[in-house]
Amino acid sequence: MKQMQRHTLCELAMPVKLLFTGYLLTIGFGLLMAGGQIMLTHGMADGKFGLSVDDIVYSYHGQPGTKLESKLNGSMKDMAPPEVRLALIKWAHNGAPINEWETTIKPHVVKYCSPCHSNMPGLVNISDKAVMDTMTKVDEGASVSTLTRVSHIHLFGISFIFFFVGWIFTYATGFSMMTKGILILTPFAFLILDVVSWWLTKLNPNFAWLVIIGGFTYSLASTVMIFTSLYQLWFKDCKLQID
Ligand code: HEC
Repeated sequence: MKQMQRHTLCELAMPVKLLFTGYLLTIGFGLLMAGGQIMLTHGMADGKFGLSVDDIVYSYHGQPGTKLESKLNGSMKDMAPPEVRLALIKWAHNGAPINEWETTIKPHVVKYCSPCHSNMPGLVNISDKAVMDTMTKVDEGASVSTLTRVSHIHLFGISFIFFFVGWIFTYATGFSMMTKGILILTPFAFLILDVVSWWLTKLNPNFAWLVIIGGFTYSLASTVMIFTSLYQLWFKDCKLQID
């Protein structure tokens, strides 16, 4: 089938080249910032730098148990005698019932924990029931309302980015129709996969790796399109064009 005659990136008029370049540079910079933000928020969810499957699980699915329990099994393990520690863990495990707070739990906390947790600046004052509540909440990960909000913003907003990046890339040369089509379609397909896998991960932590694959693949495909387009806009010799 004969292709309709159309422009290539290198022979576009200067104002169009500048428009495309400005857009691609801004989007490229934006993608870098987005990557940085993901590293600093999700990336730190497991307390270690860098994005891992655990980070995704903590962010979307939550973690088993409460903060109080995990601290008493971790860095706060030696802060109270074993029987007190077990009593606190059991209390948190049972949903931190209020009727045991004043009578049994608070006196323990005041005795063993308050020396640090009421006086040292920056440490949570867990003898205050409201503060303790935040430590005994089960971490359920992202809420449905958060996920709905972030999902639709992501789908609407990012598809605009992919639309224009893909559109500019349609003017690129040197790719078979098939390769071009795959590169243009990949970001959309993996954006949908990414968002769907947030929801799947909320239900089942085993889907966390899909979130990483989705995000990685659409970033990679758009990066290829952005760099190729920028290169062909400015550094490609039009006369060498075969098609
Ligand atoms: C010697 C001082 C000290 C004592 C005593 C102490 N803590 Fe801590 N606690 C810390 C420090 C320092 C941190 C912050 C570092 C960390 O999370 O390990 C912390 C953090 C915590 C956190 C996490 C707070 C947050 O914002 O994430 C919890 C929960 C906690 N402690 C519970 C307890 C309990 C319960 C006791 C009493 C059995 C206790 N701590 C006794 C020093 C203390």
